[in-house]
Amino acid sequence: MSNDVMQKIVSLCKRRGFIFQSSEIYGGLKSCYDYGPLGVELKRNIADDWWRTMVYEREDVVGIDASIMMHSDVWKASGHLGGFNDPLVDCKNCKERFRADKAPTAPPGEEIVYFKNGKSGSDKIKGEVGQCGYVCPNCGGSDLSDERQFNMMFRTQMGPVDAMSEAIEKIAGNALTPEEIRTHLNNAIQPSAVYLRPETAQAMFAQFLNVQQSQSMKVPFGIAQIGKSFRNEIITEHFIFRSCEFEQMECEFFCEPGTEGEWMEHWKNERMAWYKKFANAKDKFRLRAHDDDELAHYSNACFDVEYEYPWGWDEVEGIASRTDYDLKKHAEHSGAKLSYFDQQKEDPATGKMGWRYVPYVIEPAAGLTRAVLIFLCDAYTEETTEDAEGKSKTRTLLKLHPRLAPYKAAILPLVKKDGQPEKALEIVKAFRKAGINISYDDKQSIGKRYAKHDEIGTPYCITVDKESLEDNHVTIRDRDTATQERIPIENAIKVVQERLNAGL
Ligand code: GAP
Repeated sequence: MSNDVMQKIVSLCKRRGFIFQSSEIYGGLKSCYDYGPLGVELKRNIADDWWRTMVYEREDVVGIDASIMMHSDVWKASGHLGGFNDPLVDCKNCKERFRADKAPTAPPGEEIVYFKNGKSGSDKIKGEVGQCGYVCPNCGGSDLSDERQFNMMFRTQMGPVDAMSEAIEKIAGNALTPEEIRTHLNNAIQPSAVYLRPETAQAMFAQFLNVQQSQSMKVPFGIAQIGKSFRNEIITEHFIFRSCEFEQMECEFFCEPGTEGEWMEHWKNERMAWYKKFANAKDKFRLRAHDDDELAHYSNACFDVEYEYPWGWDEVEGIASRTDYDLKKHAEHSGAKLSYFDQQKEDPATGKMGWRYVPYVIEPAAGLTRAVLIFLCDAYTEETTEDAEGKSKTRTLLKLHPRLAPYKAAILPLVKKDGQPEKALEIVKAFRKAGINISYDDKQSIGKRYAKHDEIGTPYCITVDKESLEDNHVTIRDRDTATQERIPIENAIKVVQERLNAGL
């Protein structure tokens, strides 16, 4: 699959109402997207199945839905306020702003040639790669600023404070150094500063005790959450793959120290199985172990679930063994006793019954919006066939698993007269009563309606024709094979329902 396919997916998403550019009529807001009528269904279906698998089907995981804004000390404890930084660099030649750790590398001291202002065809400049060992990703230039740290959290103010006016009052009319101005600004802003969460995870640590005690949970147990996260990404890329506002599906699974290895194996298997059960191309998913130099200092193992996107292998989920780092940090900063007492266990230190310990954590952390992109890429199919006259024609279809498909079936009267719409609407009513999301569609020719539903991933088209009024049978057409079968109307719901559960 090439990047050309990526363009086709982006275009299908807009044309058919899956995903739109945010604020498009105003020229769009970079990297922000709106999920349209079909996209919201696809995203919700993915989230619902994650929740079903992670929470409803397990005894040992419960869910929460925490607020997006949390006490600022949460982010001090988690390290996000001090350490959630990207190294930012400006290219003095073409003015591109980029991340140093993602820039193309080049040997320090190497002589290079690039275009002035980054415009091909303009004068050429000779340069030398600096000690940083990279060049500008846009113009290939070596005339770069120093790296500076850029915090990726979005900051805002809470409460009826006007931090700016306060700061201006202190600054106005005084001859101050830039450092003094910065201090005044920070002093005015910090007391009421709150941050949009950059991950859903921290609420599960901060609410560890409340959840454990209110639900009488026994370790090992997990807390799961789905929700929005925000990161002021310097580079946003590949449509919804990396954006500033996105959704995560995370679980913090608390276990006894020393058992984290077996739980890591458990979660690696569980999570890979979850993606593969929906995938057409199962070989496009793999697990990649982090090298030692990639691991965070508190982590003793980490695996990425990777997918082969149109641009190559990249991450969709990280499964990290985070030791007892987070609970200990929150205990240290908040003063709360974030530990667990197991009466039935012997304390390894004293040999006596009853062991109080800080649980270790395995964290399967997936991107919901990234999963939307993956299942779109996996489903996107172009089929070329020949018609009766030998002319080749291309059929575009989304081979989405029926569980993920926005509509589970389309109910189509062949013509918009002779009682056929009324008969079709009776079927619609029965499907809706059974809780199945279907589309009633009586516009355009039947061929165009089939093509549309292939393109939006509707697994079945159920057509009511003249005979249906007499024999109570309908034609059911399968999206993937385009084969048609005549079935009694009373069986239609069962046929569709069975396919919803296929392979799950
Ligand atoms: N609590 C751990 C954590 O947040 P992460 O690897 O930074 O780990 C987990 O994020 C997942 O969230 C990623 O694997 C990815 O799917 C998704 N994600 C992270 N940043 C994203 C972004 N800017 N846009 C879209 N998805 C993102």
